Amino acid sequence: MSVVVLLGAPGAGKGTQAPLLAERLGIPVVATGGIFRAAVRDGTALGMEARRYMDAGQLVPDEITVKLLLDRLARPDASSGVILDGFPRTGVQAAALDHALDERAERVAAAVLVDVPADELVRRMSGRWICRSAGHPYHETSSPPRSAGVCDLDGSELYQRQDDRPETIRVRLDQQLGALGEVIDYYRAAGVLVVVDGLQEIGLVAAGVETALAARGIRAPSPVENVAGRA
Ligand code: AP5
Ligand code: MG
Repeated sequence: MSVVVLLGAPGAGKGTQAPLLAERLGIPVVATGGIFRAAVRDGTALGMEARRYMDAGQLVPDEITVKLLLDRLARPDASSGVILDGFPRTGVQAAALDHALDERAERVAAAVLVDVPADELVRRMSGRWICRSAGHPYHETSSPPRSAGVCDLDGSELYQRQDDRPETIRVRLDQQLGALGEVIDYYRAAGVLVVVDGLQEIGLVAAGVETALAARGIRAPSPVENVAGRA
């Protein structure tokens, strides 16, 4: 099982990089923010609870988020590995993940920090549009869709997230960067942190992530392994 954690401030590009990496490595993405947004859209009890925090730019409490993530990791499609986008976000979450992986004799293979300075984060979030069906991200200037308001990948409508309003962007950065620092320190101490320059254009960031992971022995399965894995 390869567990790769994508770390980064709000707007750094985790959700842009995660599907590119998933396609390369042949393992699914688990994005806690996306799971929460789907729950809000579906009007579930989890969604109503999470929305109170998300709309205020705050982290959802650890006990809710950890349970959600561990339930998701127990599903069969995560058995050969997973890319985590947006989890862990606190030291408590990082320790809970390690504890769960320990029980399966597994560990986080790499934690990739997509590093972007704060002024660029504001620009990225204020111009972001995402699609209704899968949350694929676009940007009105740096990564526009081929047809305005429509997702290139699945044809669904694009919309702007509630928490991308200018006042909430500021709160998210104020409230969440401290906790991100805690998680970075956690993975640096564990010896699995790799840092990629997130200011480059999207394809170059993806290449940087791939190179950093390959240096740690994490790469796409060869065609032979692929066939064996399917048998
Ligand atoms: P979540 O959905 O995870 O939001 P986030 O971490 O704040 O990150 P974003 O999704 O805003 O940014 P991103 O890094 O994915 O950037 P993107 O690729 O879209 O979480 C939302 C909320 O849910 C949280 O605030 C919290 O309330 C709650 N939550 C979620 N997980 C939680 C947890 N574990 N614990 C507690 N609470 C949790 O890119 C941004 C924009 O930039 C896009 O427009 C994109 O097109 C553009 N872009 C991307 N890369 C580049 C590039 N290289 N160059 C130019 N533009 C780029
Ligand atoms: Mg995201």
